[in-house]
Amino acid sequence: MLKEVIATRFIAPLREGGSLPGLVEADDLGTYVLKFTGAGQGRKTLVAEVVCGELARRLGLRVPRLVTVELDPVLGLGEPEQEVQRLLKSSGGTNLGMDFLSGALGFDPLAFEVSPEEAGRIVWFDALVNNVDRSWRNPNLLRWRGELWLIDHGATMIWHHNWPGAEASAARPYDAFDHALKTCAPDVASAAAELAPQVTGELLAEVTAEIPDAWLAGEPGFDTPDALRSAYARPLLARAATVHQHIHGLEGDQ
Ligand SMILES: Nc1ncnc2c1ncn2[C@@H]1O[C@H](COP(=O)(O)OP(=O)(O)O)[C@@H](O)[C@H]1O
Ligand SMILES: [Mg+2]
Repeated sequence: MLKEVIATRFIAPLREGGSLPGLVEADDLGTYVLKFTGAGQGRKTLVAEVVCGELARRLGLRVPRLVTVELDPVLGLGEPEQEVQRLLKSSGGTNLGMDFLSGALGFDPLAFEVSPEEAGRIVWFDALVNNVDRSWRNPNLLRWRGELWLIDHGATMIWHHNWPGAEASAARPYDAFDHALKTCAPDVASAAAELAPQVTGELLAEVTAEIPDAWLAGEPGFDTPDALRSAYARPLLARAATVHQHIHGLEGDQ
């Protein structure tokens, strides 16, 4: 289970991306990037963060630690900005937190060399979860203590927005044309050989068990949170073996 903390102070909104996460301090004295359950895309974004973040971590990629953050909407009362106040007020209960990597820099492919092996693992992983948010415009990669860290997996697994069409949607190819690591000569074939066999039903069960019930309950068509957990696992299991053959847009692509 993800560690549970309680937010004690709202520090500031983080304005770089699209979704306006917040920086909070918690009762364990940690500082976390908070993704609000009351934000535009709501709890599905948080589910995607947990599934992809915890899967990536188990495949050996670097992802800051994830926690759940209990939020009392009263923390929003003193916020001068209306948008922030609204988010805090609508996000009472369980939110997602991520260890704040203090001093991290945004990734710049010209300033930081990434090996073809590491780039291959990241591109392969992004193809598996169909991450559309790792472009050179918006890499969602941080450089921290000399290494590359993956953040922001909210825009992945598009199939979870339409479960009846999930199987067909999950069979689609991955377009890597704009991928942030395209120029690093990603060795996707080696990554696939190394990582695909690790994506087993057992591993995915372990990963989806980390999703808090509160973000799964009440999904139309699913009687229990565990039924929905299995629905998250299925397309990933189906994609893992062959997704590397369906990545388009890399150099040398036919
Ligand atoms: N764990 C983290 N440590 C340090 N900075 C972070 C972390 N997570 C996010 N950020 C910063 O906040 C920005 C927005 O966060 P992100 O998760 O990308 O949300 P979104 O793009 O949906 O707004 C990032 O581009 C990055 O600059
Ligand atoms: Mg982002």
